Amino acid sequence: MQEIIERLEAMRGEARLGGGQRRIDSQHAKGKLTARERIEVLLDPGSFEEWDMFMQHRCNDFGMDEQRIIGDGVVTGYGTINGRLVFVFSQDFTVFGGSLSEAHAEKICKIMDQAMRVGAPVIGLNDSGGARIQEGVASLAGYAEVFKRNVLASGVVPQISCIMGPCAGGAVYSPAMTDFIFMVKDSSYMFVTGPDVVKTVTHENVTQEELGGAVTHTTKSSVADLAHEDDVQMLLETRRFMDFLPSSNREMPPHRPTSDPVDRSEPSLDTLVPANPNKPYDMKELILKIVDEGDFFELQPNHAANIIIGLARMNGKTVGIVANQPMVLAGCLDIDSSKKAARFVRFCDCFNIPIVTLVDVPGFLPGTSQEYNGIIKHGAKLLYAFAEATVPKVTLITRKAYGGAYVVMSSKHIRGDINFAWPSAEVAVMGPKGAVEIIFRSDLGDAEKIEARTEEYREKFANPFVAGSRGFVDDVIKPRNTRRRIIGALTMLENKELENPWKKHDNIPL
Ligand code: HXC
Repeated sequence: MQEIIERLEAMRGEARLGGGQRRIDSQHAKGKLTARERIEVLLDPGSFEEWDMFMQHRCNDFGMDEQRIIGDGVVTGYGTINGRLVFVFSQDFTVFGGSLSEAHAEKICKIMDQAMRVGAPVIGLNDSGGARIQEGVASLAGYAEVFKRNVLASGVVPQISCIMGPCAGGAVYSPAMTDFIFMVKDSSYMFVTGPDVVKTVTHENVTQEELGGAVTHTTKSSVADLAHEDDVQMLLETRRFMDFLPSSNREMPPHRPTSDPVDRSEPSLDTLVPANPNKPYDMKELILKIVDEGDFFELQPNHAANIIIGLARMNGKTVGIVANQPMVLAGCLDIDSSKKAARFVRFCDCFNIPIVTLVDVPGFLPGTSQEYNGIIKHGAKLLYAFAEATVPKVTLITRKAYGGAYVVMSSKHIRGDINFAWPSAEVAVMGPKGAVEIIFRSDLGDAEKIEARTEEYREKFANPFVAGSRGFVDDVIKPRNTRRRIIGALTMLENKELENPWKKHDNIPL
Protein backbone atom coordinates (compact mmCIF):
# COMPACT_ATOMS: atom_id res chain seq x y z
CA MET A 1 0.00 0.00 0.00
CA GLN A 2 2.70 2.42 1.00
CA GLU A 3 4.46 1.72 -2.24
CA ILE A 4 1.44 2.48 -4.35
CA ILE A 5 0.74 5.65 -2.37
CA GLU A 6 4.28 6.76 -3.05
CA ARG A 7 3.79 5.99 -6.72
CA LEU A 8 0.56 7.98 -6.69
CA GLU A 9 2.34 10.95 -5.15
CA ALA A 10 5.15 10.68 -7.67
CA MET A 11 2.70 10.60 -10.56
CA ARG A 12 0.79 13.55 -9.16
CA GLY A 13 4.03 15.48 -8.84
CA GLU A 14 4.89 14.63 -12.43
CA ALA A 15 1.46 15.71 -13.68
CA ARG A 16 1.70 18.98 -11.77
CA LEU A 17 4.95 19.75 -13.51
CA GLY A 18 3.29 19.52 -16.95
CA GLY A 19 5.83 20.14 -19.69
CA GLY A 20 8.63 20.75 -17.18
CA GLN A 21 10.20 23.60 -15.27
CA ARG A 22 11.86 25.15 -18.32
CA ARG A 23 8.53 25.61 -20.07
CA ILE A 24 6.85 26.78 -16.85
CA ASP A 25 9.56 29.45 -16.55
CA SER A 26 8.96 30.43 -20.14
CA GLN A 27 5.22 30.71 -19.47
CA HIS A 28 5.93 32.97 -16.48
CA ALA A 29 8.40 35.03 -18.51
CA LYS A 30 5.56 35.83 -20.91
CA GLY A 31 3.58 37.23 -17.96
CA LYS A 32 1.25 34.21 -18.00
CA LEU A 33 0.23 31.95 -15.15
CA THR A 34 0.31 28.19 -15.57
CA ALA A 35 -2.85 26.16 -16.06
CA ARG A 36 -2.94 25.15 -12.41
CA GLU A 37 -2.12 28.59 -11.05
CA ARG A 38 -5.04 29.95 -13.06
CA ILE A 39 -7.44 27.46 -11.52
CA GLU A 40 -6.23 28.46 -8.07
CA VAL A 41 -7.07 32.11 -8.74
CA LEU A 42 -10.40 31.32 -10.38
CA LEU A 43 -11.87 28.96 -7.80
CA ASP A 44 -12.51 29.21 -4.07
CA PRO A 45 -9.39 28.09 -2.15
CA GLY A 46 -9.21 24.34 -1.76
CA SER A 47 -12.41 23.70 -3.72
CA PHE A 48 -10.88 22.19 -6.87
CA GLU A 49 -11.42 18.49 -7.48
CA GLU A 50 -9.34 17.29 -10.39
CA TRP A 51 -10.37 14.54 -12.80
CA ASP A 52 -8.31 12.48 -15.21
CA MET A 53 -4.93 13.58 -13.97
CA PHE A 54 -3.47 10.32 -15.27
CA MET A 55 -4.87 10.45 -18.77
CA GLN A 56 -2.33 10.16 -21.60
CA HIS A 57 -2.40 10.54 -25.35
CA ARG A 58 -2.41 7.43 -27.52
CA CYS A 59 -0.31 8.65 -30.44
CA ASN A 60 2.78 6.66 -31.49
CA ASP A 61 3.77 8.61 -34.59
CA PHE A 62 6.49 11.24 -34.97
CA GLY A 63 8.24 10.15 -31.78
CA MET A 64 5.17 10.78 -29.67
CA ASP A 65 5.44 7.32 -28.09
CA GLU A 66 8.46 8.66 -26.22
CA GLN A 67 6.71 11.79 -25.04
CA ARG A 68 3.78 10.92 -22.84
CA ILE A 69 3.08 13.63 -20.31
CA ILE A 70 0.43 12.58 -17.85
CA GLY A 71 -2.62 14.79 -17.90
CA ASP A 72 -1.96 15.45 -21.60
CA GLY A 73 -2.03 19.23 -21.63
CA VAL A 74 -5.29 20.03 -19.92
CA VAL A 75 -6.32 20.19 -16.28
CA THR A 76 -10.02 19.41 -15.76
CA GLY A 77 -12.43 19.15 -12.87
CA TYR A 78 -14.86 21.11 -10.77
CA GLY A 79 -14.87 23.50 -7.85
CA THR A 80 -16.75 26.50 -6.56
CA ILE A 81 -16.86 30.24 -7.09
CA ASN A 82 -18.22 31.96 -4.01
CA GLY A 83 -19.66 28.62 -3.00
CA ARG A 84 -21.38 27.83 -6.32
CA LEU A 85 -20.43 24.83 -8.43
CA VAL A 86 -18.60 25.33 -11.74
CA PHE A 87 -16.74 22.97 -14.06
CA VAL A 88 -13.38 24.03 -15.43
CA PHE A 89 -10.85 23.01 -18.00
CA SER A 90 -7.50 24.77 -18.15
CA GLN A 91 -5.20 24.09 -21.08
CA ASP A 92 -1.53 23.70 -20.25
CA PHE A 93 0.61 25.44 -22.84
CA THR A 94 3.72 23.79 -21.41
CA VAL A 95 2.51 20.44 -22.76
CA PHE A 96 2.71 20.36 -26.56
CA GLY A 97 1.60 23.99 -26.64
CA GLY A 98 -1.75 23.11 -25.03
CA SER A 99 -2.65 21.42 -28.31
CA LEU A 100 -5.71 19.24 -28.36
CA SER A 101 -5.28 15.51 -28.71
CA GLU A 102 -8.00 12.90 -28.71
CA ALA A 103 -7.39 12.25 -25.00
CA HIS A 104 -7.26 15.97 -24.18
CA ALA A 105 -10.64 16.37 -25.89
CA GLU A 106 -12.09 13.42 -23.96
CA LYS A 107 -11.16 15.12 -20.70
CA ILE A 108 -12.94 18.32 -21.71
CA CYS A 109 -15.99 16.40 -22.95
CA LYS A 110 -16.24 14.50 -19.68
CA ILE A 111 -16.59 17.65 -17.59
CA MET A 112 -18.98 19.19 -20.11
CA ASP A 113 -21.24 16.14 -19.95
CA GLN A 114 -21.21 16.21 -16.17
CA ALA A 115 -21.89 19.94 -16.07
CA MET A 116 -24.94 19.42 -18.26
CA ARG A 117 -26.22 16.61 -16.06
CA VAL A 118 -25.93 18.53 -12.81
CA GLY A 119 -26.70 21.97 -14.26
CA ALA A 120 -23.52 23.96 -13.67
CA PRO A 121 -21.53 26.41 -15.82
CA VAL A 122 -18.44 25.44 -17.79
CA ILE A 123 -15.47 27.79 -17.76
CA GLY A 124 -12.72 27.12 -20.28
CA LEU A 125 -9.26 28.60 -19.74
CA ASN A 126 -7.92 28.40 -23.28
CA ASP A 127 -4.23 28.44 -24.13
CA SER A 128 -3.72 26.17 -27.10
CA GLY A 129 -1.99 25.81 -30.44
CA GLY A 130 -5.08 24.05 -31.82
CA ALA A 131 -5.33 20.49 -33.06
CA ARG A 132 -2.38 18.26 -32.01
CA ILE A 133 -0.63 18.10 -35.32
CA GLN A 134 0.98 14.69 -34.74
CA GLU A 135 -2.41 13.06 -34.22
CA GLY A 136 -4.01 14.14 -37.47
CA VAL A 137 -7.67 13.34 -37.82
CA ALA A 138 -7.96 11.90 -34.31
CA SER A 139 -7.46 15.39 -32.89
CA LEU A 140 -9.91 16.90 -35.39
CA ALA A 141 -12.47 14.36 -34.22
CA GLY A 142 -11.69 15.44 -30.67
CA TYR A 143 -12.45 19.05 -31.52
CA ALA A 144 -15.68 18.02 -33.20
CA GLU A 145 -16.75 16.25 -29.99
CA VAL A 146 -16.13 19.45 -28.03
CA PHE A 147 -17.96 21.60 -30.60
CA LYS A 148 -20.97 19.30 -30.52
CA ARG A 149 -21.17 19.62 -26.75
CA ASN A 150 -20.80 23.41 -26.94
CA VAL A 151 -23.89 23.45 -29.13
CA LEU A 152 -25.90 21.07 -26.98
CA ALA A 153 -24.96 22.96 -23.81
CA SER A 154 -25.83 26.33 -25.35
CA GLY A 155 -28.77 27.79 -23.47
CA VAL A 156 -28.65 24.97 -20.90
CA VAL A 157 -25.61 25.96 -18.81
CA PRO A 158 -23.59 29.17 -19.11
CA GLN A 159 -20.35 28.63 -21.01
CA ILE A 160 -17.52 31.10 -20.55
CA SER A 161 -14.27 31.17 -22.51
CA CYS A 162 -11.20 32.86 -21.08
CA ILE A 163 -8.59 33.23 -23.79
CA MET A 164 -5.22 33.26 -22.07
CA GLY A 165 -2.69 32.55 -24.78
CA PRO A 166 -2.53 31.86 -28.48
CA CYS A 167 -5.64 30.15 -29.78
CA ALA A 168 -5.36 29.08 -33.36
CA GLY A 169 -7.37 26.90 -35.71
CA GLY A 170 -9.87 24.69 -33.93
CA ALA A 171 -9.02 26.38 -30.65
CA VAL A 172 -11.09 29.40 -31.62
CA TYR A 173 -14.26 27.66 -32.74
CA SER A 174 -15.13 26.13 -29.43
CA PRO A 175 -14.94 29.54 -27.66
CA ALA A 176 -16.90 31.07 -30.54
CA MET A 177 -19.86 28.90 -29.61
CA THR A 178 -19.82 29.76 -25.93
CA ASP A 179 -21.75 32.61 -24.34
CA PHE A 180 -18.91 34.99 -23.53
CA ILE A 181 -15.28 35.35 -24.50
CA PHE A 182 -12.84 37.26 -22.31
CA MET A 183 -9.29 37.96 -23.48
CA VAL A 184 -6.01 39.13 -21.93
CA LYS A 185 -4.24 42.07 -23.58
CA ASP A 186 -0.85 41.41 -25.18
CA SER A 187 -0.76 37.69 -24.42
CA SER A 188 -3.86 36.18 -25.94
CA TYR A 189 -4.68 35.78 -29.60
CA MET A 190 -7.48 34.25 -31.61
CA PHE A 191 -7.30 33.58 -35.30
CA VAL A 192 -8.39 30.94 -37.73
CA THR A 193 -5.04 31.21 -39.52
CA GLY A 194 -1.97 33.00 -38.15
CA PRO A 195 0.03 35.89 -39.66
CA ASP A 196 2.27 33.60 -41.74
CA VAL A 197 -0.62 31.99 -43.57
CA VAL A 198 -2.25 35.39 -44.01
CA LYS A 199 0.95 36.67 -45.60
CA THR A 200 1.15 33.73 -48.00
CA VAL A 201 -2.47 33.92 -49.07
CA THR A 202 -3.35 37.61 -49.06
CA HIS A 203 0.15 39.18 -48.95
CA GLU A 204 -0.89 41.22 -45.92
CA ASN A 205 1.73 41.93 -43.28
CA VAL A 206 0.05 41.79 -39.92
CA THR A 207 1.22 41.06 -36.39
CA GLN A 208 -0.45 38.51 -34.10
CA GLU A 209 -1.70 41.41 -31.99
CA GLU A 210 -3.23 43.24 -34.95
CA LEU A 211 -4.74 40.12 -36.43
CA GLY A 212 -6.26 38.58 -33.35
CA GLY A 213 -5.28 40.37 -30.16
CA ALA A 214 -7.62 41.40 -27.37
CA VAL A 215 -7.97 44.96 -28.65
CA THR A 216 -8.81 43.80 -32.17
CA HIS A 217 -11.46 41.40 -30.96
CA THR A 218 -13.09 43.77 -28.47
CA THR A 219 -13.21 46.77 -30.80
CA LYS A 220 -13.23 45.68 -34.44
CA SER A 221 -14.51 42.14 -34.73
CA SER A 222 -16.58 41.92 -31.51
CA VAL A 223 -15.58 38.26 -31.23
CA ALA A 224 -14.62 38.91 -27.61
CA ASP A 225 -16.59 40.64 -24.87
CA LEU A 226 -13.86 42.04 -22.64
CA ALA A 227 -10.11 42.73 -22.74
CA HIS A 228 -8.34 42.37 -19.41
CA GLU A 229 -4.90 43.62 -18.40
CA ASP A 230 -3.49 40.29 -17.20
CA ASP A 231 -4.35 36.75 -16.15
CA VAL A 232 -5.14 37.63 -12.54
CA GLN A 233 -7.47 40.49 -13.42
CA MET A 234 -9.29 38.30 -15.91
CA LEU A 235 -9.79 35.48 -13.45
CA LEU A 236 -10.98 37.76 -10.65
CA GLU A 237 -13.39 39.53 -12.99
CA THR A 238 -14.67 36.17 -14.19
CA ARG A 239 -15.42 35.29 -10.56
CA ARG A 240 -17.35 38.55 -10.23
CA PHE A 241 -19.19 37.84 -13.47
CA MET A 242 -20.28 34.35 -12.42
CA ASP A 243 -22.02 35.82 -9.37
CA PHE A 244 -24.60 37.38 -11.70
CA LEU A 245 -25.48 34.15 -13.50
CA PRO A 246 -27.75 31.24 -12.66
CA SER A 247 -26.05 27.86 -12.76
CA SER A 248 -28.33 26.62 -15.54
CA ASN A 249 -31.53 27.37 -17.41
CA ARG A 250 -33.40 25.43 -14.72
CA GLU A 251 -32.55 28.02 -12.08
CA MET A 252 -33.13 31.66 -11.37
CA PRO A 253 -30.03 33.86 -11.00
CA PRO A 254 -28.66 34.01 -7.43
CA HIS A 255 -30.08 36.56 -5.06
CA ARG A 256 -27.61 38.82 -3.31
CA PRO A 257 -29.13 40.84 -0.44
CA THR A 258 -28.32 44.53 -0.72
CA SER A 259 -28.30 47.43 1.69
CA ASP A 260 -29.14 49.80 -1.17
CA PRO A 261 -32.72 50.98 -0.44
CA VAL A 262 -35.35 49.96 -2.99
CA ASP A 263 -36.92 53.40 -2.77
CA ARG A 264 -33.67 55.34 -3.09
CA SER A 265 -34.61 58.59 -4.80
CA GLU A 266 -32.12 60.22 -7.19
CA PRO A 267 -33.13 63.91 -7.60
CA SER A 268 -30.18 64.46 -9.96
CA LEU A 269 -31.96 62.33 -12.57
CA ASP A 270 -34.62 65.02 -12.92
CA THR A 271 -32.05 67.10 -14.80
CA LEU A 272 -30.19 64.34 -16.65
CA VAL A 273 -31.95 64.95 -19.97
CA PRO A 274 -30.86 68.34 -21.39
CA ALA A 275 -33.48 70.84 -22.53
CA ASN A 276 -32.02 70.81 -26.04
CA PRO A 277 -33.18 67.53 -27.66
CA ASN A 278 -30.02 67.35 -29.75
CA LYS A 279 -27.66 67.55 -26.79
CA PRO A 280 -26.26 64.24 -25.64
CA TYR A 281 -26.03 63.00 -22.06
CA ASP A 282 -24.42 59.92 -20.58
CA MET A 283 -26.85 57.02 -20.29
CA LYS A 284 -24.34 55.24 -18.06
CA GLU A 285 -25.05 57.82 -15.38
CA LEU A 286 -28.66 56.65 -15.32
CA ILE A 287 -27.63 53.00 -15.14
CA LEU A 288 -25.18 53.56 -12.29
CA LYS A 289 -27.74 55.57 -10.35
CA ILE A 290 -30.54 53.01 -10.50
CA VAL A 291 -28.79 49.66 -10.02
CA ASP A 292 -27.76 48.24 -6.64
CA GLU A 293 -24.68 49.97 -5.26
CA GLY A 294 -23.75 51.30 -8.70
CA ASP A 295 -22.42 47.84 -9.56
CA PHE A 296 -22.70 47.39 -13.32
CA PHE A 297 -20.81 44.66 -15.22
CA GLU A 298 -20.60 46.08 -18.70
CA LEU A 299 -19.89 43.86 -21.70
CA GLN A 300 -18.35 44.95 -25.00
CA PRO A 301 -17.81 48.54 -23.83
CA ASN A 302 -15.49 49.35 -26.73
CA HIS A 303 -17.55 47.94 -29.56
CA ALA A 304 -20.73 49.59 -30.89
CA ALA A 305 -20.72 51.98 -27.94
CA ASN A 306 -24.00 53.48 -29.20
CA ILE A 307 -25.65 50.68 -27.27
CA ILE A 308 -24.75 49.63 -23.73
CA ILE A 309 -25.21 46.07 -22.51
CA GLY A 310 -24.35 44.46 -19.20
CA LEU A 311 -25.49 42.83 -16.00
CA ALA A 312 -26.42 44.47 -12.73
CA ARG A 313 -28.70 43.79 -9.77
CA MET A 314 -31.86 45.53 -8.71
CA ASN A 315 -33.09 44.73 -5.21
CA GLY A 316 -30.51 41.95 -5.14
CA LYS A 317 -31.70 40.25 -8.32
CA THR A 318 -29.77 40.06 -11.57
CA VAL A 319 -31.05 42.11 -14.51
CA GLY A 320 -29.71 42.49 -18.02
CA ILE A 321 -29.48 46.12 -19.07
CA VAL A 322 -29.81 47.22 -22.68
CA ALA A 323 -29.55 50.97 -23.20
CA ASN A 324 -29.08 53.37 -26.08
CA GLN A 325 -26.14 55.71 -25.52
CA PRO A 326 -26.89 59.25 -26.81
CA MET A 327 -23.19 60.11 -26.44
CA VAL A 328 -22.25 57.89 -29.41
CA LEU A 329 -23.87 58.29 -32.85
CA ALA A 330 -26.76 59.96 -31.00
CA GLY A 331 -27.70 56.50 -29.72
CA CYS A 332 -29.00 55.31 -33.09
CA LEU A 333 -29.28 51.64 -33.98
CA ASP A 334 -26.89 50.36 -36.61
CA ILE A 335 -25.65 46.94 -37.68
CA ASP A 336 -23.08 46.50 -34.93
CA SER A 337 -25.26 47.75 -32.08
CA SER A 338 -28.20 45.61 -33.21
CA LYS A 339 -26.08 42.47 -33.30
CA LYS A 340 -24.42 43.27 -29.99
CA ALA A 341 -27.69 43.80 -28.16
CA ALA A 342 -29.58 40.97 -29.89
CA ARG A 343 -27.16 38.31 -28.72
CA PHE A 344 -27.21 39.71 -25.20
CA VAL A 345 -31.02 39.78 -25.07
CA ARG A 346 -31.08 36.14 -26.16
CA PHE A 347 -28.52 35.23 -23.50
CA CYS A 348 -30.69 36.85 -20.82
CA ASP A 349 -33.76 35.06 -22.12
CA CYS A 350 -31.99 31.67 -22.08
CA PHE A 351 -30.99 32.10 -18.47
CA ASN A 352 -34.08 33.65 -16.85
CA ILE A 353 -32.56 37.11 -16.49
CA PRO A 354 -35.13 39.94 -16.66
CA ILE A 355 -34.31 42.68 -19.14
CA VAL A 356 -34.40 46.39 -18.33
CA THR A 357 -34.31 48.49 -21.52
CA LEU A 358 -33.48 52.21 -21.41
CA VAL A 359 -34.50 53.96 -24.58
CA ASP A 360 -33.25 57.12 -26.21
CA VAL A 361 -33.08 56.28 -29.89
CA PRO A 362 -33.47 58.60 -32.88
CA GLY A 363 -33.87 55.68 -35.30
CA PHE A 364 -31.77 53.40 -37.47
CA LEU A 365 -28.57 54.84 -38.96
CA PRO A 366 -29.19 55.74 -42.60
CA GLY A 367 -26.69 55.31 -45.43
CA THR A 368 -25.40 53.07 -48.17
CA SER A 369 -22.81 51.46 -45.95
CA GLN A 370 -25.51 50.29 -43.56
CA GLU A 371 -27.89 49.19 -46.31
CA TYR A 372 -25.25 47.37 -48.37
CA ASN A 373 -24.08 45.53 -45.30
CA GLY A 374 -27.55 44.39 -44.41
CA ILE A 375 -28.97 46.64 -41.71
CA ILE A 376 -32.38 45.23 -42.59
CA LYS A 377 -31.33 41.73 -41.61
CA HIS A 378 -29.13 42.75 -38.69
CA GLY A 379 -31.57 45.28 -37.26
CA ALA A 380 -34.20 42.55 -37.46
CA LYS A 381 -32.09 40.46 -35.10
CA LEU A 382 -32.70 42.84 -32.25
CA LEU A 383 -36.38 43.16 -33.05
CA TYR A 384 -36.62 39.38 -33.17
CA ALA A 385 -34.67 38.88 -29.96
CA PHE A 386 -36.78 41.29 -27.93
CA ALA A 387 -40.03 39.98 -29.41
CA GLU A 388 -39.29 36.32 -28.70
CA ALA A 389 -37.96 36.91 -25.18
CA THR A 390 -40.34 35.65 -22.50
CA VAL A 391 -38.44 36.85 -19.42
CA PRO A 392 -39.81 39.92 -17.59
CA LYS A 393 -39.18 43.01 -19.72
CA VAL A 394 -39.30 46.51 -18.25
CA THR A 395 -38.71 49.44 -20.58
CA LEU A 396 -38.12 53.11 -19.84
CA ILE A 397 -38.13 55.79 -22.54
CA THR A 398 -36.04 58.70 -21.33
CA ARG A 399 -36.18 60.85 -24.44
CA LYS A 400 -36.43 59.88 -28.10
CA ALA A 401 -38.23 56.78 -29.24
CA TYR A 402 -38.61 57.26 -32.93
CA GLY A 403 -39.85 55.08 -35.73
CA GLY A 404 -38.92 51.43 -36.12
CA ALA A 405 -36.33 51.80 -33.41
CA TYR A 406 -39.13 52.67 -30.95
CA VAL A 407 -40.84 49.39 -31.76
CA VAL A 408 -37.58 47.42 -31.60
CA MET A 409 -36.48 48.67 -28.19
CA SER A 410 -38.71 46.37 -26.16
CA SER A 411 -41.89 48.31 -26.86
CA LYS A 412 -45.31 47.27 -25.61
CA HIS A 413 -46.13 45.95 -29.06
CA ILE A 414 -43.48 43.23 -28.88
CA ARG A 415 -44.46 42.08 -25.41
CA GLY A 416 -42.74 44.64 -23.22
CA ASP A 417 -44.39 43.94 -19.86
CA ILE A 418 -44.13 47.34 -18.24
CA ASN A 419 -43.27 50.38 -20.33
CA PHE A 420 -42.46 53.57 -18.49
CA ALA A 421 -41.63 56.99 -19.88
CA TRP A 422 -40.07 60.05 -18.36
CA PRO A 423 -41.93 63.33 -18.97
CA SER A 424 -39.15 64.20 -21.44
CA ALA A 425 -40.02 61.22 -23.68
CA GLU A 426 -40.91 61.80 -27.33
CA VAL A 427 -42.63 58.89 -29.04
CA ALA A 428 -43.10 59.56 -32.75
CA VAL A 429 -42.43 58.23 -36.21
CA MET A 430 -39.48 60.62 -36.46
CA GLY A 431 -38.19 63.93 -35.10
CA PRO A 432 -40.42 67.00 -35.72
CA LYS A 433 -38.10 68.59 -38.28
CA GLY A 434 -37.77 65.48 -40.46
CA ALA A 435 -41.48 64.77 -40.18
CA VAL A 436 -42.53 68.23 -41.33
CA GLU A 437 -40.06 68.23 -44.21
CA ILE A 438 -41.80 65.14 -45.54
CA ILE A 439 -45.47 65.75 -44.89
CA PHE A 440 -45.38 69.48 -45.72
CA ARG A 441 -42.89 69.34 -48.57
CA SER A 442 -44.84 71.90 -50.59
CA ASP A 443 -44.34 74.47 -47.80
CA LEU A 444 -40.58 74.05 -47.70
CA GLY A 445 -39.92 77.50 -49.25
CA ASP A 446 -41.86 79.22 -46.48
CA ALA A 447 -39.70 79.25 -43.35
CA GLU A 448 -42.41 80.68 -41.16
CA LYS A 449 -44.96 78.07 -42.14
CA ILE A 450 -42.44 75.29 -41.65
CA GLU A 451 -41.55 76.62 -38.23
CA ALA A 452 -45.22 76.65 -37.26
CA ARG A 453 -45.79 73.13 -38.58
CA THR A 454 -42.70 71.87 -36.75
CA GLU A 455 -43.96 73.37 -33.54
CA GLU A 456 -47.36 71.77 -34.13
CA TYR A 457 -45.77 68.35 -34.66
CA ARG A 458 -43.57 68.79 -31.61
CA GLU A 459 -46.54 69.80 -29.52
CA LYS A 460 -48.43 66.72 -30.68
CA PHE A 461 -45.78 64.05 -30.41
CA ALA A 462 -42.78 65.34 -28.46
CA ASN A 463 -44.22 64.00 -25.24
CA PRO A 464 -45.20 60.63 -23.80
CA PHE A 465 -48.93 61.31 -23.57
CA VAL A 466 -50.09 60.26 -27.03
CA ALA A 467 -48.44 56.88 -26.45
CA GLY A 468 -49.87 56.93 -22.93
CA SER A 469 -53.39 57.61 -24.19
CA ARG A 470 -53.25 54.39 -26.18
CA GLY A 471 -51.76 52.33 -23.37
CA PHE A 472 -48.44 51.89 -25.17
CA VAL A 473 -46.81 53.54 -22.16
CA ASP A 474 -48.11 52.26 -18.81
CA ASP A 475 -47.06 55.27 -16.78
CA VAL A 476 -45.13 58.50 -17.00
CA ILE A 477 -42.78 58.52 -14.02
CA LYS A 478 -40.62 61.09 -12.30
CA PRO A 479 -36.95 60.50 -13.14
CA ARG A 480 -35.93 60.64 -9.48
CA ASN A 481 -38.20 57.65 -8.72
CA THR A 482 -36.88 55.43 -11.51
CA ARG A 483 -35.16 52.88 -9.29
CA ARG A 484 -38.21 52.34 -7.11
CA ARG A 485 -40.59 52.11 -10.07
CA ILE A 486 -38.47 49.64 -12.05
CA ILE A 487 -37.93 47.44 -9.01
CA GLY A 488 -41.67 47.57 -8.34
CA ALA A 489 -42.36 46.37 -11.87
CA LEU A 490 -39.74 43.61 -11.67
CA THR A 491 -41.17 42.43 -8.34
CA MET A 492 -44.67 42.30 -9.80
CA LEU A 493 -43.31 40.28 -12.74
CA GLU A 494 -41.39 37.75 -10.67
CA ASN A 495 -43.81 34.91 -11.34
CA LYS A 496 -44.49 35.85 -14.94
CA GLU A 497 -45.42 32.92 -17.14
CA LEU A 498 -45.29 33.19 -20.90
CA GLU A 499 -44.54 30.54 -23.47
CA ASN A 500 -43.88 30.80 -27.17
CA PRO A 501 -45.71 28.46 -29.53
CA TRP A 502 -44.17 25.00 -29.88
CA LYS A 503 -41.49 24.82 -32.54
CA LYS A 504 -38.38 22.77 -33.20
CA HIS A 505 -36.38 25.97 -33.04
CA ASP A 506 -36.83 29.44 -34.39
CA ASN A 507 -35.27 30.90 -37.49
CA ILE A 508 -33.75 34.20 -36.36
CA PRO A 509 -32.32 36.16 -39.32
CA LEU A 510 -28.64 35.23 -39.00
C1 HXC B 1 1.48 19.97 -31.52
C2 HXC B 1 2.25 22.02 -30.91
C3 HXC B 1 1.15 22.65 -31.59
C4 HXC B 1 0.22 21.82 -32.23
C5 HXC B 1 2.39 24.17 -30.71
N1 HXC B 1 2.96 23.01 -30.40
N2 HXC B 1 1.28 23.98 -31.44
N3 HXC B 1 2.38 20.70 -30.88
N4 HXC B 1 0.41 20.48 -32.17
N5 HXC B 1 -0.83 22.31 -32.85
C6 HXC B 1 4.17 22.82 -29.59
C7 HXC B 1 5.45 23.29 -30.25
O1 HXC B 1 5.96 22.30 -31.07
C8 HXC B 1 6.33 23.59 -29.06
O2 HXC B 1 6.84 22.40 -28.56
C9 HXC B 1 5.37 24.09 -28.03
O3 HXC B 1 4.07 23.62 -28.44
C10 HXC B 1 5.29 25.60 -27.95
O4 HXC B 1 5.14 26.12 -29.25
P1 HXC B 1 6.01 27.32 -29.81
O5 HXC B 1 5.75 27.38 -31.27
O6 HXC B 1 7.41 27.19 -29.34
O7 HXC B 1 5.35 28.54 -29.05
P2 HXC B 1 5.05 30.01 -29.56
O8 HXC B 1 6.24 30.55 -30.26
O9 HXC B 1 4.53 30.75 -28.38
O10 HXC B 1 3.90 29.86 -30.65
C11 HXC B 1 2.64 29.35 -30.27
C12 HXC B 1 1.77 29.07 -31.52
C13 HXC B 1 2.57 28.18 -32.51
C14 HXC B 1 1.40 30.41 -32.18
C15 HXC B 1 0.49 28.41 -31.05
O11 HXC B 1 3.10 27.07 -31.79
C16 HXC B 1 1.74 27.68 -33.63
O12 HXC B 1 1.52 28.40 -34.64
N6 HXC B 1 1.31 26.43 -33.56
C17 HXC B 1 0.57 25.80 -34.60
C18 HXC B 1 -0.80 26.34 -34.70
C19 HXC B 1 -1.62 25.56 -35.69
O13 HXC B 1 -1.45 25.70 -36.91
N7 HXC B 1 -2.45 24.60 -35.14
C20 HXC B 1 -3.22 23.71 -35.93
C21 HXC B 1 -4.45 24.43 -36.34
S1 HXC B 1 -5.50 23.48 -37.27
P3 HXC B 1 8.20 22.32 -27.73
O14 HXC B 1 8.43 20.87 -27.56
O15 HXC B 1 9.22 23.03 -28.54
O16 HXC B 1 7.93 23.01 -26.43
C22 HXC B 1 -6.73 23.15 -36.27
C23 HXC B 1 -7.81 22.49 -36.98
C24 HXC B 1 -8.97 22.22 -36.10
O17 HXC B 1 -6.74 23.43 -35.12
C25 HXC B 1 -10.18 22.36 -36.92
C26 HXC B 1 -11.35 21.85 -36.21
C27 HXC B 1 -12.58 22.11 -37.03
